[in-house]
Amino acid sequence: MYRTIEWLDDTSQVRLVDQTKLPLVLEHVVTDSHERIAKSIKIMEIRGAPAIGAAAGMGMALAAIESKARIKGDLIEYLEKAADILNTRPTAVNLTWATTRMLEVAKNADGSTDEIIQKLVEEGKEIAEEDVRMSRAMGEQALSLIKPGYTIQTICNAGSLATVHLGTVGAVVRVAHEKYNGDIKVYAAETRPRQQGARLTVYEFMKDKIDTTLITDGMIGTVFREGRVDCCVVGADRILRTGHVINKIGTYTMAITAKHHNIPFYSVVPVSTIDMVTDPEDVVIEERDPDEIRMINGEYVTVPDAKVYNPAFDMTPPELVDAIITDRGVVKNPTEAKMRKLFEKE
Ligand code: MRU
Repeated sequence: MYRTIEWLDDTSQVRLVDQTKLPLVLEHVVTDSHERIAKSIKIMEIRGAPAIGAAAGMGMALAAIESKARIKGDLIEYLEKAADILNTRPTAVNLTWATTRMLEVAKNADGSTDEIIQKLVEEGKEIAEEDVRMSRAMGEQALSLIKPGYTIQTICNAGSLATVHLGTVGAVVRVAHEKYNGDIKVYAAETRPRQQGARLTVYEFMKDKIDTTLITDGMIGTVFREGRVDCCVVGADRILRTGHVINKIGTYTMAITAKHHNIPFYSVVPVSTIDMVTDPEDVVIEERDPDEIRMINGEYVTVPDAKVYNPAFDMTPPELVDAIITDRGVVKNPTEAKMRKLFEKE
């Protein structure tokens, strides 16, 4: 299977799948510019919390090369500006997690600026490699909750395309599919307005021959009432120490509906998506262009100046979350104490 984002050693460039073109064409963006990476994140050529974390890490490595700095202070100054440019979306914590990590590496490194730049390239690649390892671990951890024959409801795309390789929900589904000889099914919610479920999740699961059924977001209640799914598994852009899950708009409604129908609701994340500092009321929920709602495929489907509210994410409180699945273990009925215990584990 392809990687969503890769560092090209021969040319010191980054290559990423352009997700705005999928599923119709598979095209890549290839660049040696951190500003181009920032644009890719902003216009969602690359999206999904872990994938934009990896992109930001590699973007910082490109910035280090671009700086041509001969003095460490100049390099740090250039990198601080690059971090501001790369932090283009406010909700997924992986973005600032990656830029902060890269800055720390630069600040703590000894040696010539050439040596520090090389260290940053290695760190950018390592963030991506860690992501691949964490995906597999999340998939293995989830086996305690996902049984053979299960049908899993998901939303948005938390598959390969949202990470570097296997995905978060993607890893849960793929590892179960592998272990249970294909006896796993998925219901994918379309995910208005950007349709990551329809465009990306259905595409990548069908490619892997995973039995996937597409529904619109408004069908979730009916699907639950008819007993078509066994559990919900969603990704997250940020999980707080309190167990609040911030994920794609529609997740909260799904969790409430799941509770009403006694369907377990799980969120699966690498530890890089856990934010132990921010309080629920301080999380910034990204609001996107109103035309994402007003238009479909470049055509207005409403009055062109219709008043619109377009939050890209929502927040599900811990009382609706049956478990948080991470690469380090599963936290059932999350509380701050349990999250702290998990976070202290190495
Ligand atoms: O706006 P997007 O497409 O970047 O939103 C992505 C999601 O909400 C995903 O569910 C989340 O990032 C988890 S991805 C493993």
